[in-house]
Amino acid sequence: MPELMVNIDHVATLREARGIHYPDPVFAAGIAEMAGASGIIIHLREDRRHIKDRDLVILREVVRTKLNLEMAATPEMTKIASEIKPDMITLVPEKRQELTTEGGLDVVRFTAKIEKVISAMRKKGIAVSLFIDPVETQIKAAARIGANMIEVHTGTYSDARTAKDRTAELKKVVKATRMGKELGLGVNAGHGLHYHNVREIAVIPGIDELSIGHSIIARAVFVGLDRAVRDMLELIKTGNG
Ligand code: PXP
Repeated sequence: MPELMVNIDHVATLREARGIHYPDPVFAAGIAEMAGASGIIIHLREDRRHIKDRDLVILREVVRTKLNLEMAATPEMTKIASEIKPDMITLVPEKRQELTTEGGLDVVRFTAKIEKVISAMRKKGIAVSLFIDPVETQIKAAARIGANMIEVHTGTYSDARTAKDRTAELKKVVKATRMGKELGLGVNAGHGLHYHNVREIAVIPGIDELSIGHSIIARAVFVGLDRAVRDMLELIKTGNG
């Protein structure tokens, strides 16, 4: 059964809607951990639109499970990760205008840039995951350049409009997971997962962690974060019998 990693970016989005000091993502991390999350994820974006450097520093101190820093493969972020030392990083593509991460990293095209980050992280003992589409060439490239893990992008699966498209996308995620495992990689999955589409992904053999943010924080508005995390954990568990 995969572990649940909770992305708390959107607690910070709510804070930044007013530019004040609450709600604090640091509190969200504690509640998510107490509810059973196996780890906390934050994305420190170049434009700092939600998570701030201060959040990362404090979360590094208080997170007792596992802290996964999503970041772009830039010298600035590499320096920050090297100093703060999250337990792991996930490299994601980043465009300024996007609402959220819009697709997997092109490991084939940006091999040299990504290798540089992997090498810097290895020196600090920080594991590296690459967020990629469920595409054979990308998975092979991730393994070849020494990533520890991949995170399979489930956004296209989540966005599929028809049952046929959904099944086709699900098959790609299953195949990518199998291939990642065969190549000795850890395999995580995430993006766009919610309470009505998570089970199909949670039962795929070999997935180590699910990275889920928006749907959990959205539900938390109505039922509280503790309950929202527990509800998601229950679905992951029941999906697995
Ligand atoms: N994985 C990655 C790499 C992401 O960038 C995000 C969004 O920040 C997620 C997972 C979580 O996606 P969602 O918020 O749709 O659950």
